[in-house]
Amino acid sequence: MTLRSWFATPIYAAPLQPRGGERLRADLEDECRRLRDFDAAGRRWSARHYPGGYTSYASMNELHRFSSTFATLERRLLPHVRRFAHELAFDLGGRSLQLTDLWVNIMPPTAAHSLHLHPLSCISGTYYVATPRGCPGLKFEDPRLDRFMAAPPRKASASAARRTHVTYPATAGSVILFESWLRHEVVANRVDAERISISFNFNWA
Ligand code: NI
Repeated sequence: MTLRSWFATPIYAAPLQPRGGERLRADLEDECRRLRDFDAAGRRWSARHYPGGYTSYASMNELHRFSSTFATLERRLLPHVRRFAHELAFDLGGRSLQLTDLWVNIMPPTAAHSLHLHPLSCISGTYYVATPRGCPGLKFEDPRLDRFMAAPPRKASASAARRTHVTYPATAGSVILFESWLRHEVVANRVDAERISISFNFNWA
């Protein structure tokens, strides 16, 4: 017999820079905190839609256009996104991958971000700015889960490739990329310190 696995779901993880990234990370951390102080509209939106935390998702979501620090992050993200698109065998038909949205997420203790995907994009991802020890990672769900119907659950001993969820640790200075249709969540932060990340969407245009 033969047994092969098909329809794999690639997820990309790498340090943003092999070395020397601490200066940019520290600058971004400062800007993220200042942005929260400055962005009253974002704090109001977050109070309703991002309980306990702050996100600039609905108020300031093109930060790469307005801040040289975030524009530097965009430049450093691009090679990763191109490599991931190459690994995915994307045929862009002469178009190119463009960063459309880039926003800040600050999760104090108890803040969580429930399951979601990123519509109208092709590659999404997160860069980690501040990840206190023990803070939650990024949890992905098997994209076929809503079709499992009567499928039995998997054994606790199931191999990684047979599991229905996988969690990537959040590591400051690193980037995680995934296709935008892949549902993911961040469970509640149980650490007494703020977890800070910058999320973004790329589309092809
Ligand atoms: Ni997300």
